Amino acid sequence: MKLSRPILRSLLALSAFGLLGSVACSSADDDAPASATDVGQQTSGDATGGDIDDLTGEDGAGADAGAQQDVTVEGPFTAKLNLPASSFNYADPNLPNHFKTETLGFHGQVPLMNADTTPANNPTTDTGATLGRVLFYDKNLSKNRTVACASCHKAEFGFSDNAVLSKGFDGGDTGRHSMGLTQARFYGPKSFFWDQRAKSLEEQVLMPFQDPVEMGMTLDTLAARANAADYYPALFKAAFGDEQITTERISLALAQFVRSMVSTGSKYDLGRKKVSKRSDDFPNFTAEENLGKKLFVMPPPMGGKGCFVCHSGEGFIATEATSNGLDLTPSTTDVGVGGVTKQPSDSGTFKVPSLRNVALRAPYMHDGRFATLEAVIEHYSTGVQASPNLGVPFFANNGKVTQLNMTDLHKAALVAFLKTLTDVAMTQDPKFSDPFVK
Ligand code: HEC
Ligand code: HEC
Repeated sequence: MKLSRPILRSLLALSAFGLLGSVACSSADDDAPASATDVGQQTSGDATGGDIDDLTGEDGAGADAGAQQDVTVEGPFTAKLNLPASSFNYADPNLPNHFKTETLGFHGQVPLMNADTTPANNPTTDTGATLGRVLFYDKNLSKNRTVACASCHKAEFGFSDNAVLSKGFDGGDTGRHSMGLTQARFYGPKSFFWDQRAKSLEEQVLMPFQDPVEMGMTLDTLAARANAADYYPALFKAAFGDEQITTERISLALAQFVRSMVSTGSKYDLGRKKVSKRSDDFPNFTAEENLGKKLFVMPPPMGGKGCFVCHSGEGFIATEATSNGLDLTPSTTDVGVGGVTKQPSDSGTFKVPSLRNVALRAPYMHDGRFATLEAVIEHYSTGVQASPNLGVPFFANNGKVTQLNMTDLHKAALVAFLKTLTDVAMTQDPKFSDPFVK
């Protein structure tokens, strides 16, 4: 088993506190079956039979002619936009203090702000994110003008999709379950997608456009479409100082909008502001929610279930991709990060999205296999498999896993706690809503 530095540090900290007790930290490598060597790469489009040859050419025209056709045959696009006279506030989300301080004092539980993915050259501005919002909801930017980013990242579902797989512009299925975007701004490794194949958010936001299943465009047709819309010049000017429309600026603006999707007003946050340590009982929580919180944020030797090791800090984000033992051997069609890095030690590991707004975004996991939070908890209680790269603290020993075996009371409490991470005020905030007037 590969122990990452942050997780190792948490474990060392726990043992320094005398907390680890007799929990064995053994390696699964010793006896586990050799991890998949025939790792297959999957992009969100591969599994769906998207017709790559037909991306830009229309009626047999070549790629360049196709791009030309978009400019000459289509447009100008007009639309009525419902935007406020002075921009909504995106630049300063007024982050609470608990985002800036260390949690619990365990090493590895760094302040959330340390995991900010905002690059120096693309700070979020109100006008930049406003442009990003329009791009995010604009169906003109998919090949047959039927799908926008928001088609698969719906605000009411925590900016994810309630379908197991989402439908692309031509009705094809995505290769994986859509990811929620709440708190996507924060992730130490700064990489995106379940398999972390995008190295930055700026890189990521241009990929759905070019995905043969999702939006079916090329960067050339994307720029042509945006240039053919009469509502963009003013928005680009406000955001970047002049009316020039480029794919680079589209990337910057979309990344700003996605980064502005920060939740700070959940029941959890309201309670957290009232106590100095998050392990203290929150005054606004029911007894069940406080029990669930304790189970979540405490290590097993202290009566907890150790969820915080992988869903860490105030963002409930991970410090790296890992495996929560969904399958005994990584699937041959989707080995997650291993498909990108080709490293056996990454086979079957996936990015862990922030758990904020998790109750809004069933189904769960990269393949949407669990329909409810109860099913997720049952997995952690009795279903964890001794996958070769299983993360701590599910200690695998001789191919066996120490199951958490939770009582019904504990399972219900964990679900109740996860629901306190819901922030409906955020998902219903007009600044994240569809600006196109129908
Ligand atoms: C047809 C559905 C669909 C469309 C359209 C779509 N997405 Fe996604 N999105 C997904 C799926 C599915 C994933 C996970 C894919 C994977 O990991 O292989 C995803 C993942 C992401 C992620 C990664 C989140 C993380 O934490 O790593 C971001 C960010 C994102 N999408 C933003 C966008 C933006 C911006 C657009 C528009 C340009 C867009 N998406 C269009 C389905 C869609
Ligand atoms: C070993 C690290 C690890 C631990 C410990 C862990 N998880 Fe997870 N969790 C993950 C990973 C990895 C995923 C995503 C797996 C995938 O989709 O392949 C995940 C996904 C989830 C999801 C679904 C998120 C989504 O958007 O689909 C929930 C809910 C969840 N975990 C709750 C918990 C709870 C509750 C606990 C404690 C009982 C816990 N986790 C402990 C690693 C962990």
